Amino acid sequence: NLRPDSVAWNHGSLRSFKPGFESQPGRHTLLRNMNESIKLKENYALVQLKIESLLEDESDWVSAMATVVSELHNNFSYFDWTGFYRVTSPNLLKIGPYQGSHGCLTIPFSKGICGAAARKKKTQLVPNVHEREDHIACSSSTLSEIVVPVMDSNQNVLAVLDIDSDTENVFSSSDRDFLEKLCKYLGKKYS
Ligand code: SME
Repeated sequence: NLRPDSVAWNHGSLRSFKPGFESQPGRHTLLRNMNESIKLKENYALVQLKIESLLEDESDWVSAMATVVSELHNNFSYFDWTGFYRVTSPNLLKIGPYQGSHGCLTIPFSKGICGAAARKKKTQLVPNVHEREDHIACSSSTLSEIVVPVMDSNQNVLAVLDIDSDTENVFSSSDRDFLEKLCKYLGKKYS
């Protein structure tokens, strides 16, 4: 799948990263795709380390969500909306800290991709939101989305992490794996 070119590190910190995979792989393209995949994994590992360092002494859940959203949104430029929806009462999600244009304030578990993630307690990786009839469009520019549940040690859903992109089919299994790892860390720390 064609994806935007990557932009590498600058001054020792990640400025903005977009995976740069190409279609019609020849030998050189395969090597380039492998390199992009390695870079993506390295960038996630570094962002995870940075988040864990920033939250080391933080016990406040709202402060933690705000910090995570800032780090993710500012380190991966294909994240065009990054935010949490919190479970504030049974089967109801309310918007939490986010970055990007305004998001809808309330989502019942019965609706949307966020509701599906909370209801099923499973990550929703959506290559094309227009192919999901339950998609709630907070922005007309959104083309792909990934929503990861944050669960406490009793597997109760605390929140969902919702990331929208204006690039179609941009989220990979690496995105899913590292966002699930991050949400597992948050669920354990803020149970
Ligand atoms: N797209 C989400 C709604 C939240 S806005 O994207 C911020 C959904 O379908 O649940």
